[in-house]
Formats: sequence, C-alpha cells, structure tokens
Amino acid sequence: MSASQSASWPSGTPPWWTTAVVYQVYPRSFADSDGDGIGDLRGLLDRLDHLDDLGVDVVWLSPVYPSPQADNGYDISDYTDVDPVFGTLADLDELIEALHTRGMKLVMDLVVNHTSDQHDWFAASRSSREDPKRGWYVWRPPRPGTVGGTPGAEPNNWGSFFSGPAWTWDEATGEYYLHLFSDRQPDLDWDNPDVRAAVHEMMRWWLDRGVDGFRMDVINMISKDPALPDGDLRDGGPLGDGSPYFLCGPRIHEHLQEVHCEVVAGRTGLLTVGEMPGVSVDEAVLFTDPARAELDMVFQFEHVGVDHGATKWDVLPLDLRELKASLGRWQEGLEKTGWNSLYWNNHDQPRVVSRFGDNGAFRVRSATMLATVLHLHRGTPFVYQGEELGMTNAPFASIDDFRDIESVNHYAEAVAAGGDPERVLAAMRRVSRDNARTPVQWDAGPQAGFTTGTPWLPVNPNCREINAAAQRDDPDSVFAHYRRLIALRHELPVVAHGDFTMLLPESPDVYAFRRRLDDVELLVLGSFSGGRVSVELPDASQWAASEVLLSNLPGGVPEGRGLVLEPWEARVLSRAVGER
Ligand code: NOJ
Repeated sequence: MSASQSASWPSGTPPWWTTAVVYQVYPRSFADSDGDGIGDLRGLLDRLDHLDDLGVDVVWLSPVYPSPQADNGYDISDYTDVDPVFGTLADLDELIEALHTRGMKLVMDLVVNHTSDQHDWFAASRSSREDPKRGWYVWRPPRPGTVGGTPGAEPNNWGSFFSGPAWTWDEATGEYYLHLFSDRQPDLDWDNPDVRAAVHEMMRWWLDRGVDGFRMDVINMISKDPALPDGDLRDGGPLGDGSPYFLCGPRIHEHLQEVHCEVVAGRTGLLTVGEMPGVSVDEAVLFTDPARAELDMVFQFEHVGVDHGATKWDVLPLDLRELKASLGRWQEGLEKTGWNSLYWNNHDQPRVVSRFGDNGAFRVRSATMLATVLHLHRGTPFVYQGEELGMTNAPFASIDDFRDIESVNHYAEAVAAGGDPERVLAAMRRVSRDNARTPVQWDAGPQAGFTTGTPWLPVNPNCREINAAAQRDDPDSVFAHYRRLIALRHELPVVAHGDFTMLLPESPDVYAFRRRLDDVELLVLGSFSGGRVSVELPDASQWAASEVLLSNLPGGVPEGRGLVLEPWEARVLSRAVGER
C-alpha cells in the first residue's frame, strides 16, 4: 500500500499544503525600497513577480513587528503592529491582498516563547512583584544561601542559547527573570492562563486581518518543568544544559491543542508549522497527527545537526550516510501519521551549497542537485530567500563584519575563555547565521540592487555572477531548476504523495531513493561527489528504458548513459509499474 493510501487525513483527502511549497522572506535582507539599507515591506511588494515566477504557494514572513531588533525582530515589543523600519500595517494589509490576488498565502512568524524586554507586558511585570503581570514571565529568587546578582546565585544553572546564563538579575525587584535566548528576550510563563489567552487573542487578530497561518518560533520550549531543575554541566563549564526541562515539556501538547481549539478550529486554508529544536520523530508524530489537532507540521533539526560536533561551532565534515539515515528515518516515521517539512536553509542556517555542496566550480550543479534531492522527498518544501539563486556563504573578513547576536556573543565568550581568535572566526565563517542574512542578490549593479543606501550587512561580492537578473531567463540556472521542481510537485501526485524508499544507505556519495504512487515509480539520484560515480542498483536494468523526468545537466542526460553520474549530478527517472 502506498503512503498516501495509508495516511489518515480526517477529511479523507490530503490537505492543500501537502502539494504546496513555502518561500521564506527574511525582510531585513530581502529588498529595501527606501534606501535606509534595511529591507522592508514595500521592497517585498515590488518583488512579488519573482515569487510568482518561481511558483511558490506560500510566503512565510520573518518578524516585521515593532522590535528593538536585538535579535533582528525575534524580540517583539508589540504583537499587533509593524515596525517603522519595515513599513506600516497598511503596507502589510496591501501585502496580504497582493499575495492573495496572485494566489499565494501569507504565514506570519509567531514568537511567543518570549517577548522583547521592551514589551509593555514585561515593563509591567518588572515594575513590581505585586504587579498583575508579574506572573506573565518566569521570575525566581536567588538560589538559597546566595546573594542575588553574584555569580552562581542564579536560580538554576541553565545556559542561554546566546552565551552566558539564562537568568538576569533585576536589582529593583530582587529577583531573576528567565531568558532562554538573550537577556533582552524574557520568557513568557505559559502556565499562566492570562498569557495564553492574550496570545490566542493576538493570533485571532492576525487571522481576522487575513493572514493564513503561523510559523511558531521555538514553540516546543513554551512548557517548562515547573521545578526548573539544574541541567548537566556543559563541557566542563559552570553552565548546565536545561533542555531536558524545557524541550517538549509537560504541558506542551495541552498548550498546542488549546491554541488549535481557540484560534485555528473552524477556519480553513491555514498552515501551522512549529519550529522544534531537539524534537524526536515520535514526538513529531504526536504534534502532527491530524486527529490530535495540534500542528500541521514541525521543523525538526536532526539533519542540520549531522555536521555538528559537541556544539554547532565544532564543524565536522559531512558523512552522507548519516544525512540519509536521518532524513530516511523521518520519512519513515511520518509515513502513516503526520507530515514532514523539508528544508536545507533558513535564516539560522549557513547556505546549503557552501555546506553540503561545492560553491566553487560546481556551484550551480551542486545547488540544483541538493534542491532536487530535498524537493523529491515527501513533505512540504521550504525555500529560503536566495537559495533559489544558489547564494553562498559570505567571505567575512573579521569579527567586525558579523552582526548576529549569537555569533558576536559566541566570539566574545570563546575568546575570553582563551580560544584562538582566528580559529573561532574560522568556525563562524562556516556556520554563523549571518551567512544566510546577507542581502538578496537581485542584479549585478551597486549593492546587488538590494538598496540604494548602505546595506545593514555587506552584500556578498559574488553578486556580480550570482544574481536573480542573470538567472531569470537562463534555462540552466538554479532559479529555473527550482521553478521546475516546484512545478513537478504541483503536477505529479507521486511527488507530493508517493511513498518513499531509501536506497543505497551505505553509499558515501550517492543519495538514492524511490517514490511510488499507484502505477508510477520515480528513481531519484543525487551525487555528492566531485568525480564520476556509478550507481550500483540491483534493479538497474529495469530503469534502462525509463523517462528522464528531470536532470541538472545542461542539455540533459546523454543518450545511453546508464546509471553513471557526472559530478554533483541529479537525475529523476520515471517509469510505469504494475498496480499494487
Ligand atoms: C529561532 C529563530 O529562528 C531565531 O532566529 C531566533 O534567534 C530564536 N528562535 C529566538 O527567537
């Protein structure tokens, strides 16, 4: 039986987003309309043809809400407005309408594990211990027997994701507040029903305005173990790993079911995707089982951790077998119940062509191979701005070129701990989030057509060769290849709904799998090698007369080639098989 036949959709038919492709816009770096060097909503409005031509169905917009921008908008000070740096609410209304007119949907980023420390809720909460909003955040006294504000007096030993302890001392009210990210991003207390009600109301407000769903930031962190126990010490340092006590915590499913019931239920055409670091396949099945009414899909992190050592800054070479084992496990785990999201890139990940491909001589070939492999999996693909152009990591010269709070804090901490500055920088060049955040390269002109001013983060100098204008009408471009992949998903039910079988799991340089739906079978091959490779499949002869559905070789696969792949080649073959 094929996966689509076995999957249990309550209505009997798969939801619309099973055939959709989502495009992520990181507005700061997308397109600047007013010359201040920061992208904005009018810049996005001016570039909608690009998305339309690509053929995507949904735009996920990273945060545009009012924010002090400590974490580029993931620190929100007002949930129901637009930051002037990005435009106005009227611009956002225009964007909703313009996208809908073109048949696209808009998914907003929902950042409700924490707010900005400048949010009115936090201002009230920190104003006094008696304030009605005190309990909206996680406040705790110093560890017993210690003096607040001194090292080690934090209520527990958790480290934050952005270096240093996860607690900040508030002298005025004599307690600590919890922040899993920076001290300017205090965590909301989701055990407080007033917090939940305020979030539900805000979400309904956006849906009533016309948005089509939410990408929920670190949503598996909202339920903490109320005891807030110490975590195991992180490699020898004083800080502990609190993740067992805040990832997928005790009330997470209850909270998400409540969100569904209070906000989503009764509305149609929406998409909800939860960002979930550390989520396991088994948990993801629970989160995305339609019968449980929690989320449509989650972003898992396993496959983007395969090249991490003890931390993300310890970069390991890619072992393709591990990547396949991971993605294969997720395909299998969510085959019957739930649904996968598929991604290589977003605003937090280095550029995939620099990470798993070859961003030199085979940049176009490897970018299109990586795209093919990902988009032919079962799940909903997410394209991150610039990925469709094969944009690469950036050549950061020194620490002064970095802007990202995570990177800047890491450098300070690592160097203060005695790390060699050059080695620390070398790792940052490979994995810093700023790699994803350099401006979109629209053309070969000044500042790549991103801005008429000075960009907030330097444009990658390779914009002279890599840019949208050069690719739009080139049938062999990365852009053209993404367009073909997106069209395939729309046109061929086997791409969206066919079952998935991983092949050659032990091959160190070939990614191979089968998809099957009814009487159609696809063979997807991707080479992760800079040399020629032969694909040793037991049923190779059965593919001899198959149709080449897609190739990333200019001119296509030469006649009679057999299952031998050129460097970084991707090939999708199709054949008719007997009905099962
Ligand atoms: C995940 C977001 O993707 C990332 O950019 C942000 O820094 C953290 N959550 C905190 O909101």
